[in-house]
Amino acid sequence: TTPLVTSRFRPAIHFTARDTWLNDPNGLVYYGGLYHLFFQNNPYGSVWGNMSWGHATSRDLLHWTEHPVAIACDEEEDIFSGSVVVDHGNTTGLGTPDAPALVAIYTSAYKAASEHNGTQAQSLAYSTDGGMTWRKYRGNPVLTRNSAHFRDPKVFRYDGEQGVCWVMVAVEAQHQKVVIYRSDDLKSWEFLSEFGPANADAGEWECPDLFPLAVDGDQEDIKWVLIVNVNPGAVAGGSGGQYFVGNFDGVRFVPDGCSLPVPGGISALGDSAAAAAALQQCLWLDWGRDCYASVSFSNVPDGRCIIMGWMNNWDYANQLPTAPWRSSMTLARELRLTTVNGSSRLVQQPVLPPVRAEEAVPAVNGHMHSGAFDLRDSVFRLPDAVPGSAQVIEAEILPGSAESVSFHLFGNDDGSAGTLLTYNAAANQLVLDRRLSGNTGFHEKFPSAEAAPLVLEDGALKLQIVVDHCSVEVFAQGGKVVLTDLVFPDRGQTENRLTVTGGQATVRTLTVTALN
Ligand code: FRU
Repeated sequence: TTPLVTSRFRPAIHFTARDTWLNDPNGLVYYGGLYHLFFQNNPYGSVWGNMSWGHATSRDLLHWTEHPVAIACDEEEDIFSGSVVVDHGNTTGLGTPDAPALVAIYTSAYKAASEHNGTQAQSLAYSTDGGMTWRKYRGNPVLTRNSAHFRDPKVFRYDGEQGVCWVMVAVEAQHQKVVIYRSDDLKSWEFLSEFGPANADAGEWECPDLFPLAVDGDQEDIKWVLIVNVNPGAVAGGSGGQYFVGNFDGVRFVPDGCSLPVPGGISALGDSAAAAAALQQCLWLDWGRDCYASVSFSNVPDGRCIIMGWMNNWDYANQLPTAPWRSSMTLARELRLTTVNGSSRLVQQPVLPPVRAEEAVPAVNGHMHSGAFDLRDSVFRLPDAVPGSAQVIEAEILPGSAESVSFHLFGNDDGSAGTLLTYNAAANQLVLDRRLSGNTGFHEKFPSAEAAPLVLEDGALKLQIVVDHCSVEVFAQGGKVVLTDLVFPDRGQTENRLTVTGGQATVRTLTVTALN
């Protein structure tokens, strides 16, 4: 076997393949006490190609064990993105009532020379040993539209007025459409409706997802969230995830603000100004450069909604300065819906172990602080980044009269290099700036600064920042604002600092916890 290749950029608590390329998370499912992560994988290299489904499992969503390739490409087809369901009722007949099969619904990206000449269609594979080995279904493909861009099926169980069935959301990528189908057995599919296009500036639509969530935790008030990943044209440039909140009645998804469910789908609503406005209102899952193809786990206990994305951007994905492994996933994030100014919005919380008080090191500046303290135009040292560990920085700060409050992460001795996370009071923005973060020269589109609108809550800035060896994930205001960026610090860039400029701020709480 190939020796494990390590490098100082290898993340401590994010999934990377041992020595190959990965992109989108696929087939996220909880089964047999394990979270299964399948993923777009090139088993033979460190750039995109030979697309197959790699496989890894985890008990805590932070530490992963990689397994052999689950579904491999062949002369006929590449295996593009898709999902996995647990066929509890043995609707496919591929398992038994006592031992349900895991069924993968994936995109067959047929080669030009195959009998399906270059089209993309949906196919099945199944596992009767808890996801370790997979067989392709003989009747593949199970759903085709004779389209070259029909892909990324996400399937879920839907319990509605007409009874229980399987529902698939997939995309016609180049037409910026989500197409919705239903099935009783995962093998034969019936068209229900389509949604889109919306956000006309964006590029191809990819990797959709559709799921219900309780608004503000109220189980009587359920709304549906439609995730649509777009590339290019995302808020920070290149690839990113947008979402819509609305209703799904078993046939159609209608976003809030659109009142007319009409035959033919939302695309037929062009003449309704309200509908057009609702469709153009882009909500972003993440304001950073590196969170794409986020989709949810199925079969998660207690109805929790947990998503995971690919921590990368097609703008430069193939050039990241690591090899032979290249790319990682984001942290798993639990989603909730909360009401903001009368509208439903997603909040995201990273799935992390509960922090024990003795593990959380109060930030240090020669002396320990307990309780709140003030900072005026000063720099406050935080514990350094350490090899082998990720760090979770949690802070609640009242910016007060300060013009800006910044976290300088992976800085060098004289402060000239580092990744800057800055709250800018005048602009009401949170900015993640990686232009001086270290190695940025491997692609011209990599150096960047991303801004997200941020509203203080009771005068407070609330931050949870997860720093791993080549990434910074920021969850602000309890997860209402999320920013994810890759960074590749140069050797010696290990210093973390908090800087207050232009006035006085009060630090209410500040802890740094190492995780490995
Ligand atoms: C998204 C995507 C999907 C496709 C897969 C191919 O990143 O382009 O639409 O299924 O990657 O690897």
